Amino acid sequence: MSDMARELLRDVRVAPSILAADFGRLREQVVEVLQAGARVIHVDVMDGHFVPPITLGPPIVGALSETVHEAGGILDVHLMIERPERQVSEFVRAGADSITFHAEATPHVAYAANLIRESGACVGLAFNPGTAVGALAEVTELLDMALCMTVNPGWGGQAFIAHSLEKLPRVRALVGSDVAVEVDGGIESLTAPPCLEAGANVFVAGSAIFSAPDPAETYRAIAASVDAA
Ligand code: DX5
Ligand code: ZN
Repeated sequence: MSDMARELLRDVRVAPSILAADFGRLREQVVEVLQAGARVIHVDVMDGHFVPPITLGPPIVGALSETVHEAGGILDVHLMIERPERQVSEFVRAGADSITFHAEATPHVAYAANLIRESGACVGLAFNPGTAVGALAEVTELLDMALCMTVNPGWGGQAFIAHSLEKLPRVRALVGSDVAVEVDGGIESLTAPPCLEAGANVFVAGSAIFSAPDPAETYRAIAASVDAA
C-alpha cells in the first residue's frame, strides 16, 4: 500500500480534509469526493494539547478504510498531537497510508519518522507557519512528504497566510523532486495555483470543499485550477 500511496502523493493532488465534513454523513460525503476523482483523503487528528481542539482518532480512520481503499484512494493522516510516535501503530492498524507529524510536537523527529517508515506507511513531516523551513534540513532523506502549514494548525476555515508562498520554494529546494510538498489551510481555487507555482503538489482543502453546496463540484474546480496553472 505504501508504494501506491507514494505514487499518488508524487502527482498533483487535491486532498479533501474531512474536518469540514458533516460527520453525520461522513461516508456519504467521502464517497462523493472519491467519485469526483479525489484519491487522497486527509484526516486531521487533534489532541487538545498540541492544538486546543480534540477531533478524530483511529476509529474514524478504521471506519473509512474500506471505502477509501476500494476506490483506489489513500488515507492521509495529519497528526496535530504531542508525542506522535506513541500513536503511529494504532493509526496504521486502522488503515492510515500516510502519517504526517509535526516537527514542533516531538523532540524525536528522526525516531518518529523511522517508526512510521517501519510501520509501512508514508512518512510526512509538518511544520507551522512560524517554524523555519530548516526544521526539515537534517531529515529530508527520511521523508515522503513535507507539509507546509499555510494557516496555524487547529481549525478549518482560516485565511491562507501569504508568507507561505515565500517558504514553499525553499521547501522544494530542500526536499528535491521526489518528496511530496503538501499545503494545508485556506486552500481553494485562488490560493492553490500560486502554491503550485511555488513548489507544492498536494493541496489539502477542507471548508472550501465540504462547506460548499456541492462538494464534488468544488473538488473538481480546485483540481481544475491546479491542472490549468
Ligand atoms: C487545520 C487542518 C486542516 C484543515 C484545513 O489545522 O490541518 O487540514 O482541515 O481546513 P481549511 O481548508 O478549511 O483551511
Ligand atoms: Zn490537516
